[in-house]
Amino acid sequence: MFVTSSLDALTKSEQYASLLSQARGLIHGESNVIANAANLSALAMSSLSGLNWAGFYFYDGYELVLGPFQGKPACLRIPLNRGVCGAAARSHQTQVVPDVHAFEGHIACDAASRSEIVVPLLQGGRLLGVWDVDSPLPARFDAEDAAGMEALCALFVQSLQDDVPLRGYART
Ligand code: SME
Repeated sequence: MFVTSSLDALTKSEQYASLLSQARGLIHGESNVIANAANLSALAMSSLSGLNWAGFYFYDGYELVLGPFQGKPACLRIPLNRGVCGAAARSHQTQVVPDVHAFEGHIACDAASRSEIVVPLLQGGRLLGVWDVDSPLPARFDAEDAAGMEALCALFVQSLQDDVPLRGYART
């Protein structure tokens, strides 16, 4: 059994240190993209406070396709020219959006979302997808969250080294 608990009592940098250490334990010895994506989504949602959605979209060579997540059902496909996810995928840069209503082209999957962070998943410069986290709180995410989420994503991408299915899913 894997026990997770809220990290509320810790500072943000302590929260991410703990999250990363738990993530390392969860994915240790596993390279399957679905298994690791599912567990990291569950870990983020159960450990970090003030989130209403956390999960993955994977790039199939044309657009972003919904992967494992925690939260309400979400849009299935996101073209690269749309939304916060598309912006992260296009630019290969983490997007921290303090007010989703002020972001032109934001795609509202859950009406409760007020702020959002999206990290591109890159493997040697190649786009694998994005990690997307939403909050019902305005300005929930800052540079510390960006650094912590990027470290989590680097760990995830590293875990896929031996995963054959991910390459198999891509159309190109
Ligand atoms: N808000 C995202 C869409 C995905 S959902 O938040 C899960 C966007 O604008 O790309």
